[in-house]
Amino acid sequence: MTEPHRKPFRAGRLGPAAAALLVSLLPATAAASSPEVERGRYLTIIGGCNDCHTAGYAPAAGKVPEKDWLTGDVLGWRGPWGTTYPSNLRLFMAKLSEKEWVTLAKHLETRPPMPWFTLQKMTDGDLRAIYKFVRSLGPAGSPAPAYLPPDKTPPQPYIQVP
Ligand code: HEC
Repeated sequence: MTEPHRKPFRAGRLGPAAAALLVSLLPATAAASSPEVERGRYLTIIGGCNDCHTAGYAPAAGKVPEKDWLTGDVLGWRGPWGTTYPSNLRLFMAKLSEKEWVTLAKHLETRPPMPWFTLQKMTDGDLRAIYKFVRSLGPAGSPAPAYLPPDKTPPQPYIQVP
Protein backbone atom coordinates (compact mmCIF):
# COMPACT_ATOMS: atom_id res chain seq x y z
CA MET A 1 0.00 0.00 0.00
CA THR A 2 1.34 3.46 -0.93
CA GLU A 3 1.85 5.81 1.98
CA PRO A 4 -0.43 8.83 1.48
CA HIS A 5 2.35 11.45 1.79
CA ARG A 6 4.65 9.77 -0.78
CA LYS A 7 4.09 10.26 -4.49
CA PRO A 8 4.67 7.10 -6.54
CA PHE A 9 7.93 7.11 -8.53
CA ARG A 10 7.59 7.96 -12.18
CA ALA A 11 10.43 8.17 -14.72
CA GLY A 12 8.88 11.38 -16.03
CA ARG A 13 9.89 13.06 -12.77
CA LEU A 14 13.60 12.63 -13.54
CA GLY A 15 15.11 15.79 -14.95
CA PRO A 16 15.93 15.58 -18.68
CA ALA A 17 19.67 15.58 -17.89
CA ALA A 18 19.34 12.71 -15.42
CA ALA A 19 17.19 10.75 -17.87
CA ALA A 20 19.74 11.30 -20.67
CA LEU A 21 22.57 10.20 -18.38
CA LEU A 22 20.70 7.05 -17.46
CA VAL A 23 20.12 6.20 -21.13
CA SER A 24 23.74 6.98 -22.12
CA LEU A 25 25.06 4.69 -19.38
CA LEU A 26 23.01 1.68 -20.41
CA PRO A 27 25.01 0.36 -23.44
CA ALA A 28 28.39 1.01 -21.77
CA THR A 29 27.32 -0.80 -18.61
CA ALA A 30 25.98 -3.72 -20.62
CA ALA A 31 29.31 -4.09 -22.49
CA ALA A 32 31.49 -3.65 -19.40
CA SER A 33 29.48 -6.18 -17.41
CA SER A 34 29.93 -9.00 -19.94
CA PRO A 35 32.73 -11.28 -18.71
CA GLU A 36 33.54 -12.29 -22.29
CA VAL A 37 34.04 -8.67 -23.41
CA GLU A 38 36.25 -8.11 -20.36
CA ARG A 39 38.28 -11.18 -21.24
CA GLY A 40 38.59 -9.93 -24.83
CA ARG A 41 39.91 -6.59 -23.58
CA TYR A 42 42.45 -8.39 -21.38
CA LEU A 43 43.59 -10.68 -24.23
CA THR A 44 43.87 -7.74 -26.63
CA ILE A 45 46.14 -5.93 -24.17
CA ILE A 46 48.41 -8.83 -23.26
CA GLY A 47 48.26 -10.24 -26.82
CA GLY A 48 49.96 -7.01 -27.91
CA CYS A 49 47.41 -6.22 -30.64
CA ASN A 50 47.41 -2.52 -29.71
CA ASP A 51 51.21 -2.34 -30.04
CA CYS A 52 50.86 -2.30 -33.82
CA HIS A 53 47.16 -1.87 -34.62
CA THR A 54 46.67 1.26 -32.43
CA ALA A 55 48.50 4.40 -33.57
CA GLY A 56 50.87 5.85 -30.96
CA TYR A 57 50.12 3.14 -28.37
CA ALA A 58 53.70 2.18 -27.45
CA PRO A 59 55.12 5.75 -27.39
CA ALA A 60 52.21 6.78 -25.09
CA ALA A 61 52.86 3.80 -22.79
CA GLY A 62 49.41 2.49 -23.62
CA LYS A 63 47.61 5.70 -22.68
CA VAL A 64 45.46 5.89 -25.81
CA PRO A 65 41.68 6.22 -25.22
CA GLU A 66 39.94 2.89 -25.75
CA LYS A 67 37.63 4.44 -28.35
CA ASP A 68 40.70 4.77 -30.63
CA TRP A 69 42.03 1.25 -30.11
CA LEU A 70 42.67 -1.07 -33.07
CA THR A 71 41.81 1.51 -35.75
CA GLY A 72 45.04 0.64 -37.62
CA ASP A 73 48.14 2.71 -38.30
CA VAL A 74 49.75 4.70 -41.13
CA LEU A 75 53.18 3.77 -39.76
CA GLY A 76 54.54 1.34 -42.37
CA TRP A 77 56.76 -1.68 -41.80
CA ARG A 78 59.24 -1.93 -44.66
CA GLY A 79 61.41 -4.98 -45.25
CA PRO A 80 62.20 -7.58 -47.92
CA TRP A 81 58.42 -8.32 -48.02
CA GLY A 82 57.56 -4.76 -49.09
CA THR A 83 55.70 -2.32 -46.83
CA THR A 84 52.81 -3.49 -44.67
CA TYR A 85 50.39 -1.49 -42.54
CA PRO A 86 48.59 -2.74 -39.43
CA SER A 87 44.97 -3.13 -40.54
CA ASN A 88 42.02 -1.33 -39.02
CA LEU A 89 40.61 -4.24 -36.98
CA ARG A 90 37.49 -2.29 -35.99
CA LEU A 91 36.43 -2.08 -39.64
CA PHE A 92 37.76 -5.56 -40.42
CA MET A 93 35.72 -7.32 -37.71
CA ALA A 94 32.58 -5.30 -38.46
CA LYS A 95 32.35 -7.22 -41.76
CA LEU A 96 32.71 -10.69 -40.21
CA SER A 97 30.45 -12.93 -38.17
CA GLU A 98 31.96 -14.42 -35.02
CA LYS A 99 32.20 -17.83 -36.71
CA GLU A 100 33.90 -16.34 -39.80
CA TRP A 101 36.43 -14.58 -37.55
CA VAL A 102 37.36 -17.76 -35.66
CA THR A 103 37.86 -19.71 -38.90
CA LEU A 104 39.83 -16.86 -40.49
CA ALA A 105 42.08 -16.36 -37.46
CA LYS A 106 42.87 -20.09 -37.30
CA HIS A 107 44.09 -20.01 -40.91
CA LEU A 108 45.45 -16.49 -41.17
CA GLU A 109 48.85 -16.01 -42.81
CA THR A 110 50.08 -12.50 -43.50
CA ARG A 111 53.31 -10.76 -44.32
CA PRO A 112 55.55 -9.59 -41.41
CA PRO A 113 55.54 -8.27 -38.78
CA MET A 114 52.01 -9.54 -37.94
CA PRO A 115 52.42 -12.54 -35.57
CA TRP A 116 49.78 -14.65 -37.39
CA PHE A 117 51.43 -17.87 -36.10
CA THR A 118 50.61 -16.72 -32.55
CA LEU A 119 47.04 -15.76 -33.41
CA GLN A 120 46.53 -19.23 -34.94
CA LYS A 121 47.37 -20.78 -31.57
CA MET A 122 44.63 -18.97 -29.67
CA THR A 123 41.74 -21.12 -28.50
CA ASP A 124 38.29 -20.65 -30.03
CA GLY A 125 37.15 -19.15 -26.72
CA ASP A 126 39.95 -16.57 -26.71
CA LEU A 127 39.27 -15.64 -30.32
CA ARG A 128 35.54 -15.28 -29.64
CA ALA A 129 36.27 -13.04 -26.64
CA ILE A 130 38.53 -10.80 -28.72
CA TYR A 131 35.82 -10.61 -31.36
CA LYS A 132 33.18 -9.62 -28.80
CA PHE A 133 35.46 -6.95 -27.36
CA VAL A 134 36.32 -5.42 -30.74
CA ARG A 135 32.66 -5.50 -31.83
CA SER A 136 31.66 -3.85 -28.53
CA LEU A 137 33.89 -0.90 -29.51
CA GLY A 138 32.11 -0.64 -32.88
CA PRO A 139 33.50 0.33 -36.29
CA ALA A 140 35.68 3.48 -36.35
CA GLY A 141 38.49 5.18 -38.25
CA SER A 142 39.57 4.69 -41.84
CA PRO A 143 41.21 1.73 -43.58
CA ALA A 144 45.01 1.48 -43.24
CA PRO A 145 47.10 2.33 -46.32
CA ALA A 146 47.39 -0.44 -48.92
CA TYR A 147 50.34 -2.83 -49.00
CA LEU A 148 53.28 -1.73 -51.20
CA PRO A 149 55.55 -4.20 -53.02
CA PRO A 150 59.33 -4.22 -52.27
CA ASP A 151 60.25 -2.03 -55.27
CA LYS A 152 57.97 0.82 -54.14
CA THR A 153 59.32 3.45 -51.72
CA PRO A 154 56.62 4.21 -49.13
CA PRO A 155 55.90 7.73 -47.89
CA GLN A 156 57.08 8.63 -44.36
CA PRO A 157 56.57 7.46 -41.68
CA TYR A 158 57.83 3.90 -41.93
CA ILE A 159 60.10 1.55 -40.01
CA GLN A 160 62.92 0.00 -42.04
CA VAL A 161 63.61 -3.68 -41.25
CA PRO A 162 66.45 -4.51 -40.88
C1 HEC B 1 54.25 -6.37 -34.62
C2 HEC B 1 53.06 -5.72 -35.13
C3 HEC B 1 51.71 -6.44 -35.01
C4 HEC B 1 51.16 -7.04 -33.90
C5 HEC B 1 51.77 -7.19 -32.50
C6 HEC B 1 49.86 -7.52 -34.30
N1 HEC B 1 49.64 -7.22 -35.62
FE1 HEC B 1 48.04 -7.80 -36.73
N2 HEC B 1 48.92 -7.03 -38.41
C7 HEC B 1 50.08 -6.30 -38.45
C8 HEC B 1 50.35 -5.91 -39.82
C9 HEC B 1 51.53 -5.07 -40.29
C10 HEC B 1 49.32 -6.45 -40.61
C11 HEC B 1 49.19 -6.38 -42.15
C12 HEC B 1 49.93 -7.58 -42.75
C13 HEC B 1 49.91 -7.62 -44.25
O1 HEC B 1 49.57 -6.63 -44.90
O2 HEC B 1 50.24 -8.68 -44.82
C14 HEC B 1 48.44 -7.16 -39.69
C15 HEC B 1 47.30 -7.85 -40.08
C16 HEC B 1 46.38 -8.42 -39.22
C17 HEC B 1 45.17 -9.07 -39.63
C18 HEC B 1 44.70 -9.28 -41.07
C19 HEC B 1 43.75 -8.17 -41.39
C20 HEC B 1 43.49 -7.96 -42.84
O3 HEC B 1 43.25 -6.80 -43.20
O4 HEC B 1 43.57 -8.93 -43.62
C21 HEC B 1 44.52 -9.44 -38.48
C22 HEC B 1 43.17 -10.15 -38.38
C23 HEC B 1 45.33 -9.04 -37.36
N3 HEC B 1 46.46 -8.43 -37.85
C24 HEC B 1 44.99 -9.23 -36.04
C25 HEC B 1 45.86 -9.02 -34.97
C26 HEC B 1 45.54 -9.36 -33.60
C27 HEC B 1 44.20 -9.91 -33.12
C28 HEC B 1 46.66 -9.08 -32.87
C29 HEC B 1 46.88 -9.34 -31.39
C30 HEC B 1 46.73 -10.69 -30.95
C31 HEC B 1 47.66 -8.55 -33.80
N4 HEC B 1 47.12 -8.51 -35.05
C32 HEC B 1 48.96 -8.17 -33.45
C33 HEC B 1 50.90 -6.03 -37.37
C34 HEC B 1 50.74 -6.54 -36.09
